[in-house]
Amino acid sequence: MDKDVFTHHRPLWKTHIGFLLAAIGSAIGLGNIWRFPYLCYKNGGGAFLIPYFTALLVVGIPLMILEIGLGHKMRGSAPASIASISKKWEWLGWWQVIFVMFGIVLYYSVVISWCINYFFYSFSTAWQDNPNTFFFQKFLIVSQGPFDLGNFRTPILFSLMGVWILNWVIVFGGVQKGLERANKVFMPLLFFLTAIIVFWSVRLPGAAQGIRVYLSPEFERLKDIRVWIDAFSQIFFTLSLAFGIMIAYASYLPKKSQIVRDAFTISFINCLFSVFAGFGVFSVLGYMAKSSAVEIKEVVSESIGLAFIVYPKAISTLPYLPQLFGVIFFATLVIAGLSSAISIVEAFTCAITDKFHYKREIVVSVLCVCGFLGSIIFTTQAGLYWLDIADHFLTQYGLVIAAICECIVIGWVFKARKLREHINHFSDWKLHRWWDLSIKIITPLILIGLLISSFIDEFSKPYGGYSSLALILIGRDWLIYALLFAVIIASYLWRIEPKERMLSH
Ligand code: ALA
Repeated sequence: MDKDVFTHHRPLWKTHIGFLLAAIGSAIGLGNIWRFPYLCYKNGGGAFLIPYFTALLVVGIPLMILEIGLGHKMRGSAPASIASISKKWEWLGWWQVIFVMFGIVLYYSVVISWCINYFFYSFSTAWQDNPNTFFFQKFLIVSQGPFDLGNFRTPILFSLMGVWILNWVIVFGGVQKGLERANKVFMPLLFFLTAIIVFWSVRLPGAAQGIRVYLSPEFERLKDIRVWIDAFSQIFFTLSLAFGIMIAYASYLPKKSQIVRDAFTISFINCLFSVFAGFGVFSVLGYMAKSSAVEIKEVVSESIGLAFIVYPKAISTLPYLPQLFGVIFFATLVIAGLSSAISIVEAFTCAITDKFHYKREIVVSVLCVCGFLGSIIFTTQAGLYWLDIADHFLTQYGLVIAAICECIVIGWVFKARKLREHINHFSDWKLHRWWDLSIKIITPLILIGLLISSFIDEFSKPYGGYSSLALILIGRDWLIYALLFAVIIASYLWRIEPKERMLSH
């Protein structure tokens, strides 16, 4: 019996595979199924795999090891783990989980609710022959600008309620009976449905042409710095790094854990899933191009457009069982999205229960009600603008800044070497000095470079052509308010000193 575990009543994963499935479920999300293939296409087809896998190896895996190692050692949520290192930095842990819980998951849940609507629309291919008009003018009824809120879109509002009820039911169940059990169903189902979609798609006429475009490398695109920025930010989002999730999930691991091997497994399965899903997406694009006798570049559209416009268009013209294809495709998105959304809610729940020791059930219930209420703004007719602006700031700045700070706190304040020694003590796969170098210097430098180029871009032209007021109020201030709350919560005293949880060898 593990003494530490029982002194602090920390829940544990029932099985190792349960942990892996939950972590993979968090990583594989909406971003894998359409964002990755789109980025691949935009950035030189197969050549994009070079910066993508470079980003995975140089930043993704070292940070994944850091987060899993940190959660395992400190046995706490992101704020608790960071506070165990230094109370001065506790705000960082809170900031991450606050802007992710009261930012990213609010609009993420709304996109899941769009998918639920489209799941039902698929039965009758409700968009008919004009998915573009249907999406913007009938489904979202997009207003004139971010401050023209218009009305709530009731179909979205109702399915959003469903998403939050599901989030609540699953996270309420706790680590074993909620998260682990749900992911044991979600993940095999997700892989199975994705496989159906991919194998169905590659057999469509024109698929080969699409796959050729997907994989044919344009190496000269690699000279463009934006290609590299896209690859690094995608790795970040797709692996759920700097969300505080992996730290919380790893805090439920037993003492004997294979941290390095698990970090590699989660990262590679996630990225290979993206590459695999890309075959499906590009086969459909190839099919579309062939059936409407146009070039592929004329059918590819921006990320959201790909799922809600291009796919519906393709579905309508499929030679057989188009409705079934639509139903499976949108079910896949809903499952991928839900398994990520619950991980975000868990990361915050874990943070609050660690610090204040409130009853988990109460925390989850209050949180899901607040989450639902907070999401409502994205169901208005201006929701799409809000989503676009918030997503841009929270992911491109919030996550990147949080990750840089994580590297500083663990690499320099705590010392990367100490965490490496802890990880090596339990892992069969040993970490070498390269990891310290990566956490202390390489990763933060790359991320700072990424941040600077994003800033330069930001000041050279306003993002998305929005007004500065909209960008400031909906984007920048979101991060600032989250920071303010983070500082306030960090100033409260701990019921049990976070350091007491720490695992010693
Ligand atoms: N990692 C999750 C995704 O890719 C958040 O959607």
